[in-house]
Amino acid sequence: MTLPEKVNILLLGGGGREHAIARSVAASPRCGKLYIAPGNAGTALCGTNVDIEAANFGAIKQFVVGHGIGLVVVGPEDPLVKGIVDFFADDAELKFVPVVGPSQAGARLEGSKDFAKAFMTRHGIPTAAYRTFGRGEAAEGKAFLATLKPPYVLKADGLAAGKGVVIPQTLDEAHGELDEMLGGKFGSAGSRVVVEEFLKGIECSVFVATDGENYKILPVAKDYKRVGEGDTGPNTGGMGAVSPVPFAGAKFIKRVEERIVRPTIAGLAAEKITYKGFIFIGLMNVGGDPYVIEYNVRMGDPETEVVFPRITGDVIGLFEGMVCGTLDGYELKVSGQVAATVVCTSGGYPGEYRKGLPVAGLDAVGGDLADGGSTTVFHAGTVRKGDAVVTSGGRVLAVTSLAGSMDEALAASYAAIEGISFEGMNFRRDIGRDLE
Ligand code: AMP
Ligand code: GLY
Repeated sequence: MTLPEKVNILLLGGGGREHAIARSVAASPRCGKLYIAPGNAGTALCGTNVDIEAANFGAIKQFVVGHGIGLVVVGPEDPLVKGIVDFFADDAELKFVPVVGPSQAGARLEGSKDFAKAFMTRHGIPTAAYRTFGRGEAAEGKAFLATLKPPYVLKADGLAAGKGVVIPQTLDEAHGELDEMLGGKFGSAGSRVVVEEFLKGIECSVFVATDGENYKILPVAKDYKRVGEGDTGPNTGGMGAVSPVPFAGAKFIKRVEERIVRPTIAGLAAEKITYKGFIFIGLMNVGGDPYVIEYNVRMGDPETEVVFPRITGDVIGLFEGMVCGTLDGYELKVSGQVAATVVCTSGGYPGEYRKGLPVAGLDAVGGDLADGGSTTVFHAGTVRKGDAVVTSGGRVLAVTSLAGSMDEALAASYAAIEGISFEGMNFRRDIGRDLE
């Protein structure tokens, strides 16, 4: 099986990740019509936005059938965890429309931390020692905590919008936190809690594209999760990212491939889990040895805003390899340039923030990465209102630059941000600085 030479594509999602994917798709000579649901003011520059939420399967079906869509690309986890791939496979009208993403069974790698940990244990994949506790098992949980050294790591089993991990410093705090989590602090996501050993090291993210058998390892990236400079303050969806990552060189990636990527893909196949999508492996580098912190079943955001611009080959060919089972025949081409992205957020984020504020200065950012320009603004939380672009989310823009060195890429992104403004705009001034 192959995709047609020109293919109409529906991309689900509406963040910076989807703008970065849309830009690469639109640059492909094989791109027919590109639709993004729901998209944002930036994706509208690459294709046509469609007012459908990414997990509204009924409306997506109608659109796909009515618009001759030949490929669906899923950006966020929500539709995957809800089973969009199975929904397509089981529908008489949709079953010939390939979807980039894992089946619902595969999406459990992200949807259930307990499933992910048990999967890693079954397949000998290095990860922190752990046990899972349910309601009524607080006493056992506390006894297990007492066997670990501080700090402690507690994770709500289910999806908790990136907020389900707490790292208490003392045993007392850990006991209290376990009681609160099992008591419903994170709703049903926390009805089971994974308690695990704390790993000391530095984090990075490895992205893998797979057709279920073959795989390609995409450029490695590192994101900056805390809102404040020097990695302080609350966690966010991501304040910036860089690629490549100096401490994750060829030797480390080889270990990741041998100890993690291969057993993960072989494990999925052995368990008969259909997986034609991206695997995002959150890793801790512990003295040169990789340990899995978490799996996600999609690309990262803002990591995609530095990973996709470095893929210089045709990304529709990459998607084709993934959905058609021919990924071994795809040649992944990666730019030797360094990419950095700095995220501009709404004032108050990740707490409460205002929406609908006009964004000024976007037109002044010159050119596009593909046209030899060095900087592109990916929209993350924006909508168009008449002639204006206004804010619509916590993370508003991801300003990405490609250059010969990290310094140059960062300087270009920060220079571009100088010209951009909206009321309350915040950004970290230290992205990439810890890597020098
Ligand atoms: P997660 O939502 O699983 O990515 O966890 C959020 C953050 O908690 C990670 O990015 C790590 O910084 C931290 N974390 C999670 N698990 C561990 C662990 N076992 N040891 C140290 N830090 C961890
Ligand atoms: N940047 C982290 C994520 O996409 O989950």
